[in-house]
Amino acid sequence: MGEPKPGAPTLRVAKIKDGTVIDHITAGRALLVLKILGITGREGFIVTVAMNVPSKKMGKKDIVKIEGRVLSPDEVNKIALVAPRATINIIRDYEVVEKRRVKLPRTIRNIVRCVNPACITNDREPIEPVFYVVSEEPLKLKCHYCGRIMEQHDILACLFSEG
Ligand code: CTP
Ligand code: ZN
Repeated sequence: MGEPKPGAPTLRVAKIKDGTVIDHITAGRALLVLKILGITGREGFIVTVAMNVPSKKMGKKDIVKIEGRVLSPDEVNKIALVAPRATINIIRDYEVVEKRRVKLPRTIRNIVRCVNPACITNDREPIEPVFYVVSEEPLKLKCHYCGRIMEQHDILACLFSEG
């Protein structure tokens, strides 16, 4: 067998039997994807994360494999906030039975906080933040309550900073 040829695809993470594979995640953002999905690792199912792996289409990408769980489109579409090119592969008995791109929802609830400190969503009694997608490329969200526009860098800063 020997060494694989340079540039040849290498299987870094084993194939899974049943579950969901989130592929083509923007390199370095797999942990944000898990955070948006609300997966902490304490749920008990097997989660495999690969970061900065070589990809023909993207140069580098991240991959998340969740075993024994089929994630619904509504759950997964939220990750388009940080991984717009992600593909969702549903695996049954080792076969890919469904493959689709993520699609950004029109409304984003409870994922990012408004950057406006005076926004009522940042009051002492916090209420659920709600944003509307006003542009996908470049990404811009508008706060339902104060109208503040959140740009891509505000969104990433918010997600990376909150523990
Ligand atoms: N995969 C997996 N377990 C399986 C089947 C597939 O973990 N039993 C993973 C693959 O490793 C890959 C993704 O699911 O990351 C999609 O698999 P497949 O469609 O076979 O790969 P590609 O053709 O390379 O996908 P694409 O065309 O979306 O790039
Ligand atoms: Zn606001």
